[in-house]
Amino acid sequence: MDIRVRPYTLDDFEALLTVQREAFPPPFPEELLWNREQIAAHVEVFPEGAMVAEVDGIIAGSATSLIVRFTGEPHTWAEVADDGYIRRSHQPDGDSLYGIDLCVRPSFRGHGVAQALYEARKNLVRSLGLKRLIAGCRIPGFHRYAGSMTAEEYVQKVVQGELKDLVLSFMVKQGLKPVQVMDDYLEDEESMNKAVLVEWLNPDDKEGKKIG
Ligand SMILES: CC(C)(COP(=O)(O)OP(=O)(O)OC[C@H]1O[C@@H](n2cnc3c(N)ncnc32)[C@H](O)[C@@H]1OP(=O)(O)O)[C@@H](O)C(=O)NCCC(=O)NCCS
Repeated sequence: MDIRVRPYTLDDFEALLTVQREAFPPPFPEELLWNREQIAAHVEVFPEGAMVAEVDGIIAGSATSLIVRFTGEPHTWAEVADDGYIRRSHQPDGDSLYGIDLCVRPSFRGHGVAQALYEARKNLVRSLGLKRLIAGCRIPGFHRYAGSMTAEEYVQKVVQGELKDLVLSFMVKQGLKPVQVMDDYLEDEESMNKAVLVEWLNPDDKEGKKIG
């Protein structure tokens, strides 16, 4: 399988929306899927962070990021992503690459598409000399266990491999480590509106300091 990661442009909008519709089916709120103005803003504000992965020339997945000066304070997706427009939240002189979106079409999953996007994100962290890659990771499997354990316990079990989560298991496999559970991160029924802040430290950063 030939997987190629490249920057996306506004011309890719329809394909990006197809990826989002397939990757975030209901109950995920449709109004949270990308709109044309948001894609235009990503391309204008931080084009290096706007990535698609093509498989044999077909767009199979995407990943969007911005730069922040990260403090470790709990936050919401709307705050860090500026409601998806990144204009007010992108800080070119910040120290961390923050992933605000990652999605792969279901029929292309399990073939390393997201991994290729994560490699590209890690390479961007290195080339920009940033300290870390972070993301607010959904935990869509949590609603099945919420009656019997806390989100923190759920995260621990996923990290230990006792439970599998569609998104967090992927992040753990990429070497991202959970730092903290954030409440009311995003309207996300399956994750019970929670997300886990996950972190990968740039191995080239000699002062490397964990936020967690
Ligand atoms: C999470 C997601 C992006 C993963 O995409 P993907 O292309 O299937 O992932 P990859 O094929 O690159 O997986 C890379 C590795 O992680 C593993 N992995 C991926 N998903 C996994 C899962 N649910 N459970 C266990 N391992 C998983 C793969 O087995 C693979 O391991 P390997 O290197 O040993 O083969 C995809 O499931 C998705 O789009 N989910 C819905 C959208 C979403 O919620 N995005 C997250 C927003 S925070």
